Amino acid sequence: MVTRARSVTCAAAARAPIHGRGNRARLATFSSRRRRPAARNASSSSRLAETRRADDEQAGASAKESSAGDYDWKRQWYPVGTLSSFEKRASLREPIEVTLLGESLVVWAEPGKTQTVWSCSKNLCPHRLAPMSEGRVRDDGRIECSYHGWQFEKESGVCTRIPQASPEEEAKFCSSSRCTLSMHPIQVKYGLVWVWPDNSKAGLAESMDKPPVWLEPLEAIDDDDIETLSNEYYQRDLEYDFDTLVENIVDSSHVPHAHSGIQGHRDRPFPYGLDVVRFDRDAGVRATVAPKDRSEPVPEAMRESYVEFLPPVAIRYRFSSTFFNSWSGAKTKPNKRSANLVVLATPTAPGKCRIFFRTTVMHAESLPFMLKLISRLRPVFLEHQTRMDVFDSDAWLLAKQETQGLEYGTKRNWRELFVTPTRADDLVLGFRRWVDEWGAG
Ligand code: FES
Ligand SMILES: [Fe+2]
Repeated sequence: MVTRARSVTCAAAARAPIHGRGNRARLATFSSRRRRPAARNASSSSRLAETRRADDEQAGASAKESSAGDYDWKRQWYPVGTLSSFEKRASLREPIEVTLLGESLVVWAEPGKTQTVWSCSKNLCPHRLAPMSEGRVRDDGRIECSYHGWQFEKESGVCTRIPQASPEEEAKFCSSSRCTLSMHPIQVKYGLVWVWPDNSKAGLAESMDKPPVWLEPLEAIDDDDIETLSNEYYQRDLEYDFDTLVENIVDSSHVPHAHSGIQGHRDRPFPYGLDVVRFDRDAGVRATVAPKDRSEPVPEAMRESYVEFLPPVAIRYRFSSTFFNSWSGAKTKPNKRSANLVVLATPTAPGKCRIFFRTTVMHAESLPFMLKLISRLRPVFLEHQTRMDVFDSDAWLLAKQETQGLEYGTKRNWRELFVTPTRADDLVLGFRRWVDEWGAG
């Protein structure tokens, strides 16, 4: 995997966002606007609330590590597409429309460059608001509006051509910041294109210092000293909220049931619970694999295997060889190998999200040669077909779950509505508590 050097657009010429709603974005801004049916009756709610409080105390409430201020959703990097798919479209001179936190943006690149310079702006022409994604990319990397032909420089968004103006007027008008595209920082990392939503002056300054979320398995792919076995990204747009997706992905216990026959089987339920060991605004929530019974201590070897939410977008599973040995009863000697699943979930619009899914075996040297060969030769479409089946098989459950009385925007009333007595749900509860604490305003 080739990772391109970071290329943050120069923001000096960027003007204030046309449709900005301030720097702070709350989870509510990209949650579903569907009408919610009434919640359950009050007596049932209060009884369940008591159960909930007791569960909370057990579900890692003591693992809280930091609490200063709300999570700033707008001053973060979000993946908007895979580099390979964007490069293909850029080679056809297509401006690419993306949606992030409910806002339409356009991404483009200068054609034919080996070290592609990516640019991103709001999807609005400053002249009369035509979508720039309907325009064309010129040989010199400038983007041209399809309505009246105004042209804008890559990276800076400065206007360079107004066909309707005289040469003197053109120079004068183009020097005005009002004729400049409203640009956003953009960069490439882990084979993905990332965009930063807040292009206020302070937001732009912060984007220079803050990298995208650090992901060990994806770093390892680029590390020549670590043998990895990885697949291509699976990317898909889903018709439910970002937080519903995160809640679903961190929940390992649903897999053998909701995806029975595709991934696992309902006759072999997930044999473990989860124990929350990290609860932090910026570092997220982590739970290690644990015995089902809450009263049993977690063996040290189990702590090498965990599931975590890494804000703003990532979910990672890490399972060590010890975990697989204990699950399958194999007697093989434990080694450094670990199986990793990374899911990146980008909140695109209310009730919608875009996911990027990738599995990576780290320290794969101990895997049998034939297994590695078959895995590397497996066509991408076969892998993607399996992923399609997996996400298809619980999409309806999640879409329905969102309509069952959960409070619009924050889903704060999950405490009254969910009944979650087992340890299997502890990371789901940890994530919900993280949202309540820092993510929902
Ligand atoms: S709206 Fe873009 S040039 Fe007129
Ligand atoms: Fe699922």
